[in-house]
Amino acid sequence: MDKIINKDIKYIGCDDKEITQFEGQYMLEDGMCYNSYLIEDEKIAIMDTVDKAKKAEWLDLLDKALNGKKPDYIIVQHVEPDHSSVLGELINKYPSLKVVCSAAAQKMLPLYFPDLKADFLTVKEGDELKLGKNTLKFFTAPMVHWPEVIVTYVVEAKVLFSADGFGKFGVYDSEPDDWSCEARRYYFNICGKYGAQVQALLKKAATLDIQTICPLHGPILKGEMLSEAVRLYDIWSKYDVETEGVFVAYCTMHSNTGNAAEYLAEVLKKKTSKHIAIANLCEEDWAEAVEDAFRHDTLVLAAPTYDGGLFPKMVDFIHHLKIKNFQKRKIAFIENGSWAPQAARIMKELVKDFKDVEIIEQQITIRGAFKETDKKSVEELAEKL
Ligand code: FEO
Repeated sequence: MDKIINKDIKYIGCDDKEITQFEGQYMLEDGMCYNSYLIEDEKIAIMDTVDKAKKAEWLDLLDKALNGKKPDYIIVQHVEPDHSSVLGELINKYPSLKVVCSAAAQKMLPLYFPDLKADFLTVKEGDELKLGKNTLKFFTAPMVHWPEVIVTYVVEAKVLFSADGFGKFGVYDSEPDDWSCEARRYYFNICGKYGAQVQALLKKAATLDIQTICPLHGPILKGEMLSEAVRLYDIWSKYDVETEGVFVAYCTMHSNTGNAAEYLAEVLKKKTSKHIAIANLCEEDWAEAVEDAFRHDTLVLAAPTYDGGLFPKMVDFIHHLKIKNFQKRKIAFIENGSWAPQAARIMKELVKDFKDVEIIEQQITIRGAFKETDKKSVEELAEKL
């Protein structure tokens, strides 16, 4: 996928192919990229730095792109260390560099760089900075993904630097034909809680003529890919349903609850042309399960009773849904319990405060093994769904 923006704006990001976990919790099968850009005009601006793992590589790329020139500004759109880690070295190297950021970022930077001595230019909503023939216009984007975030629009080039917005997991060229898969997992797990704030940013973006989006992760978006990304961001940030269908998320200790969940998915696939997805939370990536829960209109949670309570991995999964603001979906339950089933009662209790969820009262209780006699109740639930 090309990294060409225009003759003034160069891509100077780095791929980290070694990293296997992002933020210490999100599994990465195909690494991660940290994007950074250089805008060369009468004045030269650098758009963010990169993660510390790529410090040497990035400084080298920057050196080559500068070709002996001195940069004037470093625009810090987002303070999170995957983008600001090289700021200290950068300012040591170019002490006259001016740090352009929000007032909130200026307050936050000393938390990460206690000894940082730099000239700051703080910007607020709508402020402009002329580099020559290119004008940078700044917009605040609080909580997309942190409170200090700004995004930057290059007026003449019609380019939006979108910070974490429109980012994805993976190295720059991962899954070139399918932006949405890892962008969806990234969105719901990184920004999912902040739908209202993402909507606010989309409304600002709608007032601009944007031909290119340059995020801090993932590919540069143009043309149809850009339109599709904006369409999906609108659905995701409204917590609307992207795909009509059912997602079955289950935990299982001895395959019995799993057998019931798998049977439900099998019956649903026969009964409907809607999309049916299923995940074993004991084995599969929980962050992908969070993504699938948001993607579909109906969620089925299936879990055993454990120590008189709910199986811990299901407690954990529901907690992840809660902190990501899960809402506007139907939820059904399957429980298992050999002597005192409690799982469904507790799952219902845990989701009762979710906004605009419809609880499907018809729940299934399995006692021990999933037996022939249990199939009828699963088929009835499938019918109801
Ligand atoms: Fe890519 Fe919120 O950092």
